[in-house]
Amino acid sequence: MNFWLGKEITLVVGGGIAACRVLDLIRGLKTRGAGVTVVGTEAATQFVTPLTFHAISGRPFHGSLFDPSLEGGMDHIRLARETDLVIVAPATADLMAKMANGLANDLATAMLLARKGPILIAPSMNVAMWEHPATRRNVATLQADGVRFCGPESGALACGEEGMGRLAAVETIIETARRCLEPQTLSGRHFLLTAGPTREELDPVRYISNHSSGKMGWGIAQGALRAGAQVTLVHGPVNLPSIPGALAIKVTSAREMYAQVMGLWETHTATQTLDAVILTAAVADFRPVVKSPEKIKKTAATTLNVELEANPDILLEIGRRSQSLVNGKRPFLVGFAAETGSALERGREKMARKKCDILVVNDLFEEGAGFEGETNRVTLLDSAGQEEVWPLMSKDAVGARLVATIAARLHPP
Ligand code: C5P
Repeated sequence: MNFWLGKEITLVVGGGIAACRVLDLIRGLKTRGAGVTVVGTEAATQFVTPLTFHAISGRPFHGSLFDPSLEGGMDHIRLARETDLVIVAPATADLMAKMANGLANDLATAMLLARKGPILIAPSMNVAMWEHPATRRNVATLQADGVRFCGPESGALACGEEGMGRLAAVETIIETARRCLEPQTLSGRHFLLTAGPTREELDPVRYISNHSSGKMGWGIAQGALRAGAQVTLVHGPVNLPSIPGALAIKVTSAREMYAQVMGLWETHTATQTLDAVILTAAVADFRPVVKSPEKIKKTAATTLNVELEANPDILLEIGRRSQSLVNGKRPFLVGFAAETGSALERGREKMARKKCDILVVNDLFEEGAGFEGETNRVTLLDSAGQEEVWPLMSKDAVGARLVATIAARLHPP
């Protein structure tokens, strides 16, 4: 199911140089299936013409409160009501000041004042303007009013200065917009995830690892964030874009991952601020006993013996530690098992041994399942002995469905 299909967005464009970049935002929303109606301030049309907005959005541009051809002067009310989400991008310092103070002297601000539903602001301005106490006050007021923010980001600004003030990336704005529209079933919840492979170094140039891409963990993190959860993601080396809003902690080896996860577990179980732990990482089971300080030289010998020792099992240890907590305060524990043959049998044994609430099993020999692809075919085993076979789905869809399954089983807050 396409989330964006049929969604209506009203995009308010302020008069900043980043107005040029919202053309890509309009394209991105439209390509996903949303309808976009553009409302601009007078200053916005100094950067991008009404004709360009019309051409890119495929709809007439709205710029005047007093356009007699539109709704007899009621355009601002209609635009505020007949939409799923209002996005303000770029939100200039001036536009935010007007919004924070309830000014309504043009179509854009009148429409924003008439708006009852969600509003997402993506600010963009010079760093000094962003950091000015007046802007800080306005941001705080707008946040207290329930307006959501996306960015700004730090970087090189159009004025030649460096700092906070760049319009957030288009993909980030679209993802944040989606989160404004998704049901917030996990609001106030905190999920801890592991994802990706680990690397166990043999010498300064070589390591032992596996084919894990991290995509499954990314899909779950995305699903949890969309449902309103706070997400901490401890991950090994992956080649994936960062997920806006997730607290990502990058590690390399299994022992580093173990140390991070146990530290987070201790902190958050002490304060009861952890609701679920989902361990998707393909942690290397063994590491070389010795890491050679120099590159191991090639010799005449045709074999090389490397002695390996076992890494700590993070899931096993979390399962053990969680047993000492009172049931109602125990974070929900999900493990993953990638097997090659006899997957369910091994999965059941693993689930009992590692004491998880759900074990997600996939058989790497099955078509569409496994490490590097975009899809997965999984079976869920739960502690009550139930078994649920899911069809072949994208890893994002598996992530969203798993998050919904966990949400339905969490203890009440
Ligand atoms: O025993 P196996 O490695 O198949 O178990 C897989 C599950 O255990 C996954 O959830 C994985 O993240 C977790 N695991 C772990 N630490 C290890 C090995 C596996 O957390 N050292």
